Amino acid sequence: MAPIDPHSYTDSSHPLTTHISLSFYFDFPSSTIASSALLSLSAPHSGPLTLDTRSLSISAVIDPVTGAPLPFTLDPPSPDAVLGQSLVVTLSNQSQLLLLSKTTPSSSALQWLSPPQTFNKSYPFVFTQCQAIHARSIFPCQDTPAARIKFAAKLNIPRYLSAVMSAKHVNRRDPAAGECGGACDDALWCAEGRVVEEFVMEQPVPPYLFAFAVGELGFREVGPRTKVYSEAVPAVLDAAAREFAGSEEMIKVGEALFGPYEWERFDLLVLPPSFPYGGMENPRMTFLTPTVIKGDATGAQVVAHELAHSWTGNLITNKNNDHFWLNEGFTTYAERRIVEVVQGKERAILNIGIGWRGLVEQMERFKDRMEFTKLKTNQQGVDPDEVYSDVPYEKGFQFLWRIERQIGRPAFDEFLKKYIATFKFQSIDTDMFLDFLKANIPGIEDQIDLKVWTEGTGIPPDAMEPVSEIYTKIVSLANEFKSGRMPNEDEVAQWRGQEWELYLENLPKSVEGSQLAALDERYRLAESKDYEVKVAFLQHAIASRCSTYYNEVEKTLKEVGRMKYLRPLYTALVQGAGKEEEKMFARRVFSEACASYHPIAKGVVEAIFAKHL
Ligand code: BES
Ligand code: ZN
Repeated sequence: MAPIDPHSYTDSSHPLTTHISLSFYFDFPSSTIASSALLSLSAPHSGPLTLDTRSLSISAVIDPVTGAPLPFTLDPPSPDAVLGQSLVVTLSNQSQLLLLSKTTPSSSALQWLSPPQTFNKSYPFVFTQCQAIHARSIFPCQDTPAARIKFAAKLNIPRYLSAVMSAKHVNRRDPAAGECGGACDDALWCAEGRVVEEFVMEQPVPPYLFAFAVGELGFREVGPRTKVYSEAVPAVLDAAAREFAGSEEMIKVGEALFGPYEWERFDLLVLPPSFPYGGMENPRMTFLTPTVIKGDATGAQVVAHELAHSWTGNLITNKNNDHFWLNEGFTTYAERRIVEVVQGKERAILNIGIGWRGLVEQMERFKDRMEFTKLKTNQQGVDPDEVYSDVPYEKGFQFLWRIERQIGRPAFDEFLKKYIATFKFQSIDTDMFLDFLKANIPGIEDQIDLKVWTEGTGIPPDAMEPVSEIYTKIVSLANEFKSGRMPNEDEVAQWRGQEWELYLENLPKSVEGSQLAALDERYRLAESKDYEVKVAFLQHAIASRCSTYYNEVEKTLKEVGRMKYLRPLYTALVQGAGKEEEKMFARRVFSEACASYHPIAKGVVEAIFAKHL
């Protein structure tokens, strides 16, 4: 009895699931999904088999061959348990089991939007976010990336909606709308007005990459391998199509750098503003926040990142979350290589600089919990959503960049290609990477302190802030702000969102409110359409207690659910002593906004409150 993953009840002595056949019945009025899941194991098994669940009700577990019920026990719920509830099924030499279950409205992977919460306001919408450990709130499974699973899924949905998945679409079965022919008054809800959308994923993927969205969807074709989907609103679809027109070029760049694109299609789905991340690399169907659609470089940067996961993360996967840097550090490195080709070196350097700032910032956040500044972490008892940070991204990036500097780019490129070809479709840990590194770059351990990089806390001495004329100029302008000098119009004439973001993030921590207001007067930062700029500015405004900007803070917290914005704004409001007004304000805004947040985002904000209030 040994766990293989600090975030899963999966037992090392049990066979892993290799295939799941799923059927879902979506019931929008009750915000629930009734499902059947047929799990196939790698070998017949006798005795207990432990599965992960969270907020599910289990109605039956059946031997699919005989139809006989299989005995099972579900742990009592404990709301603060990071892992959820374990489901133990007793098998006697079965290699398959059929589980019947139902989600609850609090299932953490799912956000249900009522028609008024959508763009078109006519139809409901539901979507998933399974990373890190939320797949278990949709159906019982061995919810660990150590298990790589193929799946088939049938989604029974109202016929006015359509579905997309992180899988190949094979069919939309429309049983001719039954008796009513779709013409009855309430065709949306009547039992006959339904269709079944069928999907298959023929490549083995970790459970956190399971994803679907159901709503009134439309799409635009933007390349031979890419369609952009979103709610069927022409203006949104057109803007998205323009924003992501460069996708095919990026796929080609990725293939040249990292080897063949193994997933056939690279479609994109733009979600409603409550999507809790910037992007999520669901295979064949990347999920994106609409906040990146603003006609500048950031949309392509996020797409470059999620695309890069097609090699690093989705082909080679971290075995569990302790090695999350293998996913995100490699992907951040790969993303910047793609950005360098399609947007130029200067843009890539700015991104590295913004990342560097973020990394330095995290050292402050984790100053009392320095173990979370390590690349290789120990997340036993820790909620991965709560400790999510820039560290695996940026320290991981820095580590790989350091190796690149040591051996030179051509050798590093060759190494990367070989690494990907060797471990594709496997789930690995930090030691497997290090062994491979040492075997392929002999003597590397004498040149770089691999232990300090992977097991040490903080930023290693041989990490590096990037250098370029523009980057260095922006950082020095930010430093001059302390002595009262603001950049002039000529200096910022070429600045776009990322330049402003970098500038704001490099300003001293405590600046005078009057100085901030003057900066805003001149450059209109608080009302920027670019949330990166706006949130960076509002953080300063909160830190210097400039209450004139609290309206804008409130508006922001109510219109987006991306945690990258919620986290720093709520944290700035509630941390520190003697801020009763801000704390009350934060509580009120949260109570009014949280109905539109994804359950994961809601949980993260509640954890911030629990820590500071
Ligand atoms: N896989 C992550 C998002 C994620 C990480 C979800 C951990 C749940 C748990 C995704 O690839 C990502 O890193 N997104 C970034 C994009 C950015 C780095 C360009 C984001 O959402 O900000
Ligand atoms: Zn990522």
